[in-house]
Amino acid sequence: RDLYGAARRNSAGIEFGDRMAVAQLRGQMDEAGKAPAEAVSLVDGKPAGGESRVCVSPVDGETRVGTVTEADEALADKAVAAARAGFRAWDSTPADKRARALERFADLMEERRARLLYLLQAEAGKTIDDAMAELREAVDFCRYYAIEARRLYGDGEELPGPTGESNRLRMRGRGVFVAISPWNFPLAIFTGQIVAALVSGNAVVAKPAEQTPLVAAETIALMHEAGIPHSALHLVLGDGRIGARLVAHDRIDGVVFTGSTEVARLINRTLAGKDGPITPLIAETGGINAMIVDATALPEQVADDVIMSAFRSAGQRCSALRLMFVQEDVADRMIAMIAGAARELTLGDPRDFAIHVGPVIDAEAKAGLDKHIERMKREARAVHYAGTAPARGTYVAPHMFELGQAEDLEVEVFGPILHVVRYKASELDAVLDAIEAKGYGLTLGLHSRIESVVEKVANRLAIGNVYANRNMIGAVVGVQPFGGNGLSGTGPKAGGPHYLTRFGTEQTITINT
Ligand code: SER
Repeated sequence: RDLYGAARRNSAGIEFGDRMAVAQLRGQMDEAGKAPAEAVSLVDGKPAGGESRVCVSPVDGETRVGTVTEADEALADKAVAAARAGFRAWDSTPADKRARALERFADLMEERRARLLYLLQAEAGKTIDDAMAELREAVDFCRYYAIEARRLYGDGEELPGPTGESNRLRMRGRGVFVAISPWNFPLAIFTGQIVAALVSGNAVVAKPAEQTPLVAAETIALMHEAGIPHSALHLVLGDGRIGARLVAHDRIDGVVFTGSTEVARLINRTLAGKDGPITPLIAETGGINAMIVDATALPEQVADDVIMSAFRSAGQRCSALRLMFVQEDVADRMIAMIAGAARELTLGDPRDFAIHVGPVIDAEAKAGLDKHIERMKREARAVHYAGTAPARGTYVAPHMFELGQAEDLEVEVFGPILHVVRYKASELDAVLDAIEAKGYGLTLGLHSRIESVVEKVANRLAIGNVYANRNMIGAVVGVQPFGGNGLSGTGPKAGGPHYLTRFGTEQTITINT
């Protein structure tokens, strides 16, 4: 049961300890991978042509996964016009019917999971547990927002008023939402943005990351199959130029974006510079996420949680741990345990289900991370762990560097690289100041057995997701609503009870009876 008493269960994955089940899944994914993958833009259900290019898998830098045909700016304009034309009919469709389409789509994703899992591995380089977790999150978003839409976007509420008057408050869609999503969750975030906007009555133009068009295109096909009308949901494939064109269009009513703070700022400026109605931006961006480990923490648990938070998913989660503060008294021991656990990680082609860490998304990402590693090798106070990466494909091995001070890490480094800073027991306030000074507010990890410390830290920092005595990734829909503040975004909580309110307008209807 969720916050409001509606029956809801999170989607189930498989038991990875069950070798039969795992072998069966492997077979199903291999089979599902035989069908060709081809991504094209879709406006009013019509595929739009143009030049196509081959999508190469990051798992080895050579396997051809499929082809993508990218849109030009004229097609982006056409998609907005088509969405505008489709908006009224969709917004007038009862919320319950829209919600049912999401539920059918969730069922379809589960039914066709082998194909989606195959694509998540082949196109995005995900390990099987990350791919499965992502699929489950996408399913959960649909079922959760379906319940939420019935609550928020139904007939509305009657409000008390004077005799002879009826008053009703209801929510409706805003109009055309542009949804721009990242490559690190090409199924879950892509889906979450779109279905939240759709179920709230908006028409959507979706622009997925250019690195992951194949999983996006197949997901859109499933949404249509589930009953979401072609006129309400359009797909435009391309890079940042296409996103910029969509955002600059004068007939859009909202933008939902997940990606870098820098791009969120660009979008915000574009929206602010336009004439006409003020267009809201829902943004979820990055973070220099910290973890604080004090002397009361349990070392084995810290090691597990740090490995999970900093290195798994190749560090390519916006929630991932980047900067760990460890109390001096226990620092040597903690660092040694983390380095020991890092040595146990297997790195390589994630089509082998035993692999813990797969590739980073592409050569550009790898080049940036390699450069940071080289710089850290020169400038860090110490190198506590440096793994080795396979030569083929875009692999970056986990690294752990010790910095003299938190200020030495200036930017978010989006990969499996952990930075460690020591602090004295008397310096906790200075640690909190240093975290706050970064300006981000997405996730925070804390390992301390002292309850008052947990309370103090959570109260002091305006951070969206605070995790004490566990890892700090993998927020679960309806359980850990996810999203940050400050440089980390405009504060919406995906998978939370207030998220859908961001996508609508409110109307009060007063009738003198
Ligand atoms: N929702 C993801 C997580 O919690 C973030 O990228 O890890």
